[in-house]
Amino acid sequence: MKDLLRTADLSRADVELLLSTAADFAKDPLGAHTALAHRTVAIYMTKPSTRTRLASETAIAHLGGSPIFIRGDDLQLGRGETIADTAKIISQFASALIIRTFAQSDVDELGRFASIPVINALTDEDHPTQLLADWLTIRETFGEDISGRKFAYLGDGNNMSHAWLIMGAIMGAHVVVATPEGKWAPDAAIVAQANEIASGSGGRIEVIHDPEIAAKDASVLYTDVWMSMGDPESERVEKTKALAPFAVDSRLMNMSASDSIFMHCLPAHRGEEVSAEVIDGPRSVIWREALHRRTTIQALLYHLVKGEIKGTV
Ligand code: CP
Ligand code: NVA
Repeated sequence: MKDLLRTADLSRADVELLLSTAADFAKDPLGAHTALAHRTVAIYMTKPSTRTRLASETAIAHLGGSPIFIRGDDLQLGRGETIADTAKIISQFASALIIRTFAQSDVDELGRFASIPVINALTDEDHPTQLLADWLTIRETFGEDISGRKFAYLGDGNNMSHAWLIMGAIMGAHVVVATPEGKWAPDAAIVAQANEIASGSGGRIEVIHDPEIAAKDASVLYTDVWMSMGDPESERVEKTKALAPFAVDSRLMNMSASDSIFMHCLPAHRGEEVSAEVIDGPRSVIWREALHRRTTIQALLYHLVKGEIKGTV
């Protein structure tokens, strides 16, 4: 596999390899300090980023390479140069391209025309690198045996809910996603894909609309912002009202399993999707989860550049 364009590109074996290498890099960040020596990795972002950018640039440094950070409007792409031409030029200078943008189809097109690995660092549809950090955190907390455990996501049926469904399915997990009905539910095609993956992995997918049923006895309560980057401001009031029952507060947390954890990809909005009491409380693992962005991206770059990620086909 050349690129990581979507979470569903990864096989279970790929995820296991990446988590294991990431755990090695956590112990020894400079364990492969010449892997990208004298090479560059382009990071092109048309949306803001705190964690993904910092984690990527640090990961590249730890592999001995140099990041070239390119902000959205820096390229000639904004002045009519094609994605195909841009992909070919970046491929002549960099060993990989990390891209964060709106349309998944733009990332797919970059992957098609670039000769180097292209990594999706968030689109409107997906956020695969986040899920690697999330599952490293889950693995560290609960170990390999996740039978009988339930992994709940509550809130907006957005890119994070999609990635949560697909990665949970790959890992053979029991995933419950609770969102409002209608336009803020996850994409039906992604839910169908998660079900298909789960049927081969022993996982179980439930998409429901009741936050209490989702939270009950769950090992993880996960949530994300209600207004994602690019969401129309005109929908804020209506959306906030629809999502209010899905806010993760102490009442929902108390319904979850006795050893449960709270997770969030961040950035967070205390008092909206999560209460301060929960996100800053003893069950929250957000700082560890955020730190794992670095070693998981490091592992991904390391194996993808070496052509060691097999993919699902
Ligand atoms: N979780 C995440 O992707 O954070 P940033 O938007 O800060 O990169
Ligand atoms: N759903 C959020 C995730 C941020 C990491 C967004 O797309 O803005």
